[in-house]
Amino acid sequence: MKILVTGASGQVGSELVTALARKYGRDSVLACDIRRMPDSDIQFEEADVRDRDGLGKIIRDNGVQKIFHLAALLSASGEKNPTLAFDVNLLGTWNVLTTARDQGVKQVIIPSTIGVFGPDTPKKNVPPTTIVRPRTMYGITKYAAELLGDYFSSKFSLDCRGLRFPGLISYLSPPGGGTTDYSIEMIVAAAHQEPYECFLREDTRLPMMYMQDAISSLIDLSEADSSRLTRRTDYHVSSFSFTPKELEEELHRHFPSFRVTYRPDFRQEIADQWPESLDYSAASADWGFKPRFDFRHMVSDMISHLARPKVI
Ligand code: SER
Repeated sequence: MKILVTGASGQVGSELVTALARKYGRDSVLACDIRRMPDSDIQFEEADVRDRDGLGKIIRDNGVQKIFHLAALLSASGEKNPTLAFDVNLLGTWNVLTTARDQGVKQVIIPSTIGVFGPDTPKKNVPPTTIVRPRTMYGITKYAAELLGDYFSSKFSLDCRGLRFPGLISYLSPPGGGTTDYSIEMIVAAAHQEPYECFLREDTRLPMMYMQDAISSLIDLSEADSSRLTRRTDYHVSSFSFTPKELEEELHRHFPSFRVTYRPDFRQEIADQWPESLDYSAASADWGFKPRFDFRHMVSDMISHLARPKVI
């Protein structure tokens, strides 16, 4: 089985590719992106999901049977460049789905996001079926991608699956252009013993998850018995919720002199539209989703990978 990962050089893609290679063997994985992955010996093809013909050739030449479609612009980048976000996130998804259908690909996994929610969405313990109505280009395109996945599943029997990720925290690859990126930036600053200026207000509570749990959830959803799935493209997954102030306080336990200042920018308006916490009971019931890392464990694990040794 050949598994294609689009957006393979991104924050999630680079770690997913490694996990897939470990699980199914290196020869089973084909990574593609517009920029090459650093230091990887996984087969790589330069590809832009906006180019349907190029994508089609890669899928055909390599006999791809499963696609993890991760190529996307995140929320803050999407607001800076809505046309590019529309093209990559929506037309890119259209190209992946139509090519997958036309070439008999068996399954397409499309991660979605808390970005699909808008100001009318309830704030706490939000289930998959709720008011969405996103107001960012990221949210609009990712919600449309969920609906396209549902459509291709029912209309063309293409096995499309997806889940809505909260903010994802990782130390290996830097995030790019998201609103929840502050959490990673703050931990990196603390571990490097530098002060941090946070672009969200200190009381902004958002759902989050450690990357290891996010990667397992993608693979587990892909492998789940389809007869047990009660949803298609909008499973919720999440591990914990915290505010910038709570993260600062947790980091103080490790680095007592760590200092954070708060200067909210345009990303505050994006964060204010998102819920504080997600109800992920459907993912737990249908395919056994259970996060391994709690908030404290995530912070200490991040620090153990990032902290520079003290110079005596
Ligand atoms: N991490 C994403 C962002 O902040 C949300 O899915 O844009």
